[in-house]
Amino acid sequence: MNKNIAIFASGNGSNAENIVRYFRENGGAQVGLIVCNRKQAFVFERARKLGVPSVYMEKEAWADGGKILELLRSEGVDFIVLAGFLLRVPDCLLEAYPNRIVNIHPSLLPKYGGKGMYGDRVHEAVVAAGERESGITIHYIDEHFDEGTVIAQFRCPVLPTDSSADVAAKVHALEYSHYPQVIAGLLNEM
Ligand code: GAR
Repeated sequence: MNKNIAIFASGNGSNAENIVRYFRENGGAQVGLIVCNRKQAFVFERARKLGVPSVYMEKEAWADGGKILELLRSEGVDFIVLAGFLLRVPDCLLEAYPNRIVNIHPSLLPKYGGKGMYGDRVHEAVVAAGERESGITIHYIDEHFDEGTVIAQFRCPVLPTDSSADVAAKVHALEYSHYPQVIAGLLNEM
């Protein structure tokens, strides 16, 4: 039977959309739910257009996680994918989904990770430090930001002339081409 994925997102949702489309084209799983912690996030618009159910969960719900766990169970969610999700995942979800929650981070962890390091802030720091490469890290999550076991990393060059927007574009391209495939590989092993 198709595995049922829930995506947690906080903002734009371009990775969420890319993952929805990938599994629609390739099968093996489906994105049955998108959960978001920001009411105004553009990911809701994407979900509506794609016809994927989406739910807003307020700050309090993320503090203990019970309401979110109940929702995931009632929807029969097998696997959770974080895609641009900026809050800590509640402990009760970590316990209920051991090795079944993955995150993508837009740098080569452990570099440029941790609380407050997300999105464009990461690329700005990479350029400011004069790095010659960057990339993405796909990892399991644990109770600390950006510290769970690494599943895969993919790299891209950073040129001396690159702006943070240039690096962001290269990193997004890596995300779109690798994240869905890596998720598919993990689901195959389940
Ligand atoms: C992505 O680049 C993702 O790697 C990053 O946020 C962006 C979300 O873009 N995640 C983090 O920085 C997590 N620490 P999207 O909403 O368009 O998918």
